Amino acid sequence: MEEHLQAFDDILRPSKKALAFTGAGVSWESGIPTFRGSGGIWEEYPPSIYGNLPGLAAVFVLRGKRLAGFAAEVVSTLAEASPNPCHGALARMEEEEMLEGIVTQNVDDLHGLAGSRKVLELHGNAYRLKCSRCRSTRKIERERLVEVAQRLKRPGVKRRDLLGALRYYASRCPKCGGRTRPDVVLFGESLPPGVMDESLLLASECDLLLALGTTSLVYPAALVPRVAMDAGAKLVEINPQPTNLTSLADLSISYPAGEFFAAYMKVAGWE
Ligand code: OAD
Ligand code: ZN
Repeated sequence: MEEHLQAFDDILRPSKKALAFTGAGVSWESGIPTFRGSGGIWEEYPPSIYGNLPGLAAVFVLRGKRLAGFAAEVVSTLAEASPNPCHGALARMEEEEMLEGIVTQNVDDLHGLAGSRKVLELHGNAYRLKCSRCRSTRKIERERLVEVAQRLKRPGVKRRDLLGALRYYASRCPKCGGRTRPDVVLFGESLPPGVMDESLLLASECDLLLALGTTSLVYPAALVPRVAMDAGAKLVEINPQPTNLTSLADLSISYPAGEFFAAYMKVAGWE
């Protein structure tokens, strides 16, 4: 660990425009399972069914109770998670003007909760509802999410409990009366307009890209590190497993991101 801390500091300090690109791995130490790792909700509820609207609609019609189980699992996992030292260190780095911002593929809002200000959310935010008609968005209170999870987790949950929860997520938009839905990008859906463009612009202008906790396999998000490298940025990867970026990285740190940044914060005197 020691030599990695020093090497990381040696690359980060002289950088003028560092950008972080984060994925599911940075939230693993906050208790949120990754998509491609073993265990966790995605093994029990395959994303090929539960990760897209037609799949979810089919489960609703055919197996309402199972959908309640899935919804309760997702909602309670999110509601119980809190930022770990990786989220905390990135927020502090921004405050210290050592980081321009974060491009994240996560929808868990943990960067925002940790205090990061510039966070570009490529796949949306699970704490927001979006109107399907006028596209306006509004925030979901965290306490509201906890309430819904508790209702769905009750033993002997009934179809009407699920309908009650869905009624909230699919409520009417106060502006135009259209239907709302959680503002997250499901499989097969396009990314929020503008966010990808802004992310690629930041990537093309940065001099250091921190790829943290991501397989960088899912496009178009994975263009972010590619564009940064093509524009001449240095690449630091923090991930306990190798990815297809590892051999291209200037520095590859094979540790869990939370563990690494907890140690880095000590070295930097940020505790
Ligand atoms: P994955 O689940 O594909 O990959 C998680 C990565 O995190 C893997 O490379 C792990 O080795 C690594 N990892 C696990 N624990 C870690 C830790 N403690 N510290 C650092 N790294 C750790 O997640 P993503 O690459 O984020 O898209 O997946 C990208 C997209 O795929 C998601 O945003 C989602 C999915 O399709 C949508 O929902 C649209
Ligand atoms: Zn509307």
